[in-house]
Amino acid sequence: MAKLWGGRFQKDTDALVNDFNESISFDQRLYQQDIAGSKAHAAMLGECGIIPKEDVTAIHAGLDSILADIEAGKVEFSTDNEDIHMNIETLLTQRIGAAGKRLHTARSRNDQVALDFRMYVREEIGAVVSEILDLQTALTEQAAKYQDAVMPGYTHLQRAQPITFAQHLMAYANMLCRDVTRLEDCKARMNECPLGSGALAGTTYPIDRHMTAAALGFDGPMSNSLDGVSDRDYALELMSALSILMMHLSRFSEEIILWCSWEFKYIELDDAYSTGSSIMPQKKNPDIAELVRGKTGRVYGDLMALLTTMKGLPLAYNKDMQEDKEPVFDAIDTALVCLPVFTGMIRTMTVLPENMRAAANKGFINATDCADYLTKQGVPFRDAYTTVGKLVIYCTETGKTLEELTLEELVKVDKHFGPDVFVALNMENCAGMRRSYGGPAKEETTRQIEAIRKFIAQRRTK
Ligand code: ARG
Repeated sequence: MAKLWGGRFQKDTDALVNDFNESISFDQRLYQQDIAGSKAHAAMLGECGIIPKEDVTAIHAGLDSILADIEAGKVEFSTDNEDIHMNIETLLTQRIGAAGKRLHTARSRNDQVALDFRMYVREEIGAVVSEILDLQTALTEQAAKYQDAVMPGYTHLQRAQPITFAQHLMAYANMLCRDVTRLEDCKARMNECPLGSGALAGTTYPIDRHMTAAALGFDGPMSNSLDGVSDRDYALELMSALSILMMHLSRFSEEIILWCSWEFKYIELDDAYSTGSSIMPQKKNPDIAELVRGKTGRVYGDLMALLTTMKGLPLAYNKDMQEDKEPVFDAIDTALVCLPVFTGMIRTMTVLPENMRAAANKGFINATDCADYLTKQGVPFRDAYTTVGKLVIYCTETGKTLEELTLEELVKVDKHFGPDVFVALNMENCAGMRRSYGGPAKEETTRQIEAIRKFIAQRRTK
C-alpha cells in the first residue's frame, strides 16, 4: 500500500518492516490529542493566510466526524498507516479530499507527536493527582479515629518509642502531598507547546506559534525548535514522580503486610480486599498490598527504559523515541490501577488498637522517657541514659517492664527517681506528651489532619 511518505520510494515496505515500524497498536490512545492538535494547527494556518478558510472548515468538520467515529468504535486503524498521526490524516483525506492534504503544511510528525504526547501526559497527571487525593482522604478519615491508639514506633524494625496510629498514617499522607506537588511541578514545567517546531528547523511559512500554544492551553511555545521535537524530559519527570509515588505505596504495602500478619495483628483487611489460598483453608492474604509492592518494580523499569533510550540520542528526532510511549502508558496505567484499590483497602481495614497497645508494653519503648525523667531531675542525659540501660538489663532478667518496677527498685539504681516517675512512664502519656511540632500528641495529629484536609480541599475546588 502507498505510504504518505512514499514519494521517493520505488518498492513496497517489506511486511516484516511494516510490522516492526508501526506504533498504531499502542499510540492510538493519542487520537483525541492528535485531533485537537490538528484542529488548532489548521485554524492557525487559516488565520495566517497559509491555507484557505474553506479548507479549515472542511478539516474541522472532517476531524470531528473522525473523532465521533473513533469513539463509536467505527474506525479500524491500519498498520500500513504506521501511527495515529498518519492514520487520521489518511482518513481525513479520504473523507474531504484535497483540503485534507493541506493539513500537514508547516508541520511534521515530529512536532505533531511531541505535541500529542505532551498533552496526553498533561491530562493524565490530573487523573493521578485526583486518585492520590482520594487516598489522602481515606488516610485522614482513619487517622482521625485513632489519635489515641498508642503503638510502638520502630527503627530497624525494633520497637523504639511510643507513637499513635494516627501519627503513623499521617506520615504517609504527608509523603503523598509531596507526590502531588511533584506532579504539579512537572505539569507546570512541561506546559510549553512544541507545535510549530516542524521536523526540527521550524518553517519558512508565517505561522503563529503563540496562537496554537494558547488554543491548546499551553503557557506559550517552546523557545527552540530542535529542543521542541527532541525533548522527552516531561515524560521522564512524570515517571520519576510516579516511581517515587510507587515507592511510597510500596513501603506502605510492606507495613500493611506486616501489620496483618499474626506476628503483629495491628489491622485486619476487609474480606473484600483480601484473597484466600487454594489449599490452606485458613489463609487470608494481603494480595493487594503485595501486588502494589510488586508493580512498583515495573514503574521503576518504565523509567529506566526511557532514560536508557534517551541517553545516547543526537538531536533532533530519532525513531528510537517511538519507544517513549509504552513505558509512559504503562507507568500511568499502573499508578492508576494501584491507587484506587489501595485506597479501598485503607478505607475498609479494621484497626486493632488493643493489639498495638499490647505490643507497646513490650520492648521498653518508654526507656527514652525514663531517661528524660531523670534528666529533668538534673541528671546529665548521658548518665541518665546509662542508668536506664542498666534498668533494662534488670527488667530483662526479672521479666518486668520499666513501669512494673517498684519505686524501691528504681531508687536503688538512682536516687533521683520519685513517685511521679510512673506518670512519665505511662505509655499514653509518653505518646500524648510528645507535643513537639510534628509529634504524635493529639494536638499535633489534629493539626496534621487539618493541614492535609486543607491541602485536599484546595485542589478539589480547582
Ligand atoms: N510514530 C512516531 C513516534 O511515535 C511519530 C514520529 C515519526 N517521525 C518520523 N520522522 N519518523 O515517534
